Amino acid sequence: MVRQLAVIAALATVAAAGILSDCTNIDFREKWLVADCLTGKDASTRINSAVFIGNKLTNNDGNLQWQANGGYATYCRDCTFAGTTYTCSCRPNFGQYKWTSINLEEHIANYNGFLLSNLTGPARTPSRASTVPVPASFSYDLRYAATNCTSPEDYYECNDDLPLAQPGDCANGGGLSLNYAVDCFKNRWYFPWEVYTTFQSLQPGAAVSGAWEFTVFGDLECSGAPLGKAPEGACSKFAEFGVGVRVEPLFNGDWRV
Ligand SMILES: *[C@@H]1O[C@H](CO)[C@@H](O)[C@H](O)[C@H]1NC(C)=O
Ligand SMILES: *[C@@H]1O[C@H](CO)[C@@H](O)[C@H](O)[C@H]1NC(C)=O
Repeated sequence: MVRQLAVIAALATVAAAGILSDCTNIDFREKWLVADCLTGKDASTRINSAVFIGNKLTNNDGNLQWQANGGYATYCRDCTFAGTTYTCSCRPNFGQYKWTSINLEEHIANYNGFLLSNLTGPARTPSRASTVPVPASFSYDLRYAATNCTSPEDYYECNDDLPLAQPGDCANGGGLSLNYAVDCFKNRWYFPWEVYTTFQSLQPGAAVSGAWEFTVFGDLECSGAPLGKAPEGACSKFAEFGVGVRVEPLFNGDWRV
């Protein structure tokens, strides 16, 4: 009876193992924790993976704390990483910036070779490992052409920035740089009138090619049928105006909260 229970428990959970004990090439760059971790199959098979920290910590009155969708970076600076400890100088509600540390092993561990977070629930181990290496730099940029400003409230300011470039000329359009994955990135703001931009063409470019996949959607939630993929290095023109872009890692990257 005791033996049976033990077997059931082993099947139900994937053991989380320590980063320092199981992983090599541990690095922290652009808010991603990266390592090569043992799969547990034998003493040498490892998976190269990364987990995004930028959306998992908050600055609570000068102290780094775990929080889903926390944006600690605004008032924390001079961050360093040593062992598995992340240290920053963060601004309290009142007074001067102060030093604060957090041990990333509290919510990040090696699960069968994958670095994963269990901040909001049990870590989900991918069914298979990607062979795309975690990039040396995560940064990529999105260049838009033939942008159109739209305001459901018909706010007139919108007409000021029409259009930035011709559909085939992403190089002369507007652009921005990011270094994280995103379910639905869009240019949307409130004046308080709602305003967002649509675009006819998109050209992604990444510091390391082949690390990301870019998919364009025609709705603000990126929930409809995609308008298409936007390959890197080409100014792709879509049949309809795009609104949102989904950017997913092709490497082993755990980035959701
Ligand atoms: C999350 O994982 C850590 C190891 O990284 C473990 O100590 C902790 O108990 C886990 N928390 C939950 C809620 O499963
Ligand atoms: C372009 O912007 C105008 C004015 O905001 C809006 O009425 C129109 O629907 C937009 N067109 C597209 C394709 O986004």
